[in-house]
Amino acid sequence: MKTFYIETFGCQMNVHDSEKVIGTLLERGYSQTAEPADAELILYNTCSIRDKAEQKVFSRLQQFKKESGKGKVFGVLGCVAQQEGERIFDRAPHVSLVCGSASYNKLPELLVQIESGGRRVTGLSLDTEDTFETALTRRDNPHRAYITIIEGCDKSCAYCVVPFTRGPERSRTAESIFKEARELAQMGYTEIQLLGQNVNSYRDPSPDGMDFATLLRRVGEIDGLKRVRFTTSHPRDFVKEIIDAIDGNPVLCNHVHLPVQSGSDRVLSAMQRLYTHADYMRRIEWMKRSPRRIALSTDIIVGFPGETEQDFQQTMALVHEVGYDSMFSFKYSPRPNTAALGLEGTLDENEKGRRLAILQETQRSIQIRRNAELIGSREEVMVEGYNPGTAQWIGRTSQNRTLNFTDAAGRQFGPGQYLDVLVTRSGPNSLAGEAVN
Ligand code: 5AD
Ligand code: SF4
Repeated sequence: MKTFYIETFGCQMNVHDSEKVIGTLLERGYSQTAEPADAELILYNTCSIRDKAEQKVFSRLQQFKKESGKGKVFGVLGCVAQQEGERIFDRAPHVSLVCGSASYNKLPELLVQIESGGRRVTGLSLDTEDTFETALTRRDNPHRAYITIIEGCDKSCAYCVVPFTRGPERSRTAESIFKEARELAQMGYTEIQLLGQNVNSYRDPSPDGMDFATLLRRVGEIDGLKRVRFTTSHPRDFVKEIIDAIDGNPVLCNHVHLPVQSGSDRVLSAMQRLYTHADYMRRIEWMKRSPRRIALSTDIIVGFPGETEQDFQQTMALVHEVGYDSMFSFKYSPRPNTAALGLEGTLDENEKGRRLAILQETQRSIQIRRNAELIGSREEVMVEGYNPGTAQWIGRTSQNRTLNFTDAAGRQFGPGQYLDVLVTRSGPNSLAGEAVN
């Protein structure tokens, strides 16, 4: 029996890629282990978005180095694999397989080489045509499924490594997306998340060239689906029709993740984001005017080269102005190959840390306020599980908030079930409530 262990770092795209890799391995007769110690093949699906993420995989590889003599085979997949390529063999000589996400369709071939004792096997091409073999995907969650609609990224944000690790944009045909979504609905999945580095630039490669808003609308009409989400959006390609689609169909979740990165036009321009503060706010206005209460989340980078105190204050002003429901915020981290490496005005780590702390503290108080506004409202949740520690069920709302709840009638709920919950309390990161009969 051939055994493998896989650990995944990074974004939902990576999580979903791992589901495809797992399917491919199971198909080849491997079985998955929960512990690396029990596996013959140890895989890390890696992220290189910030230096910290990249370092994680090398420290993992170091940890298990002593095991390599005992016949274990190590493989590095994903973004660090693509970024570092064969250099990984120098940094961690016990690694045998290095494969980037654009080459996962070559994985069966690479595994054959590994199984016959191959050392230093690589899949690093970025120009593969057919990366969308989905039939083997082994989904982890029986209720919520990811579907990749577009791979890669054609933007060139000055800080970002993704165009180098995931290659140019490749949209999948709308027909194959609908087919997969319909099959998932028939299998009992009720929630679908459409994935891409920039879903808004989706364009069906077949002659009718369907755009993202139309695709979204059509996926929302598939029988059996109760929730459809999408991530990530780029403000430049985010059109009003997306909000119109959400307004028109409650299946499309009332949550939009729209990374802004900075509130300063000077910094946005240096980042090559292709929009201004005003362009961004126009999109926020569309959402605020929606009859549905659309939750808003974002990503922000502090300490980009040349960011002055005044630029940072403009980011803070934008954060107050928008009042995000949630936020991911980061200190700028220099990445290989990116344009920002050539910029002057590097900030020291302490100053980046100071700005990040101020931003996060402000966002925390905004979230306390935003969540408190929901007290007294009735929200539909999808049950995710039960927390014996707090004796509460865990639910998720359409707005993507965690809503923990109890039930006076003492009913039992299963993951994937939908019910209404009355919100009675709130905190910075979640809501609490009582199931409605
Ligand atoms: N440094 C810090 N944060 C980054 N991100 C992307 N690249 C970098 C970098 N070099 C952040 C952006 C992006 C999110 C996924 O990660 O905010 O939206
Ligand atoms: Fe990390 Fe970006 Fe790669 Fe996702 S696409 S794994 S966030 S580097």
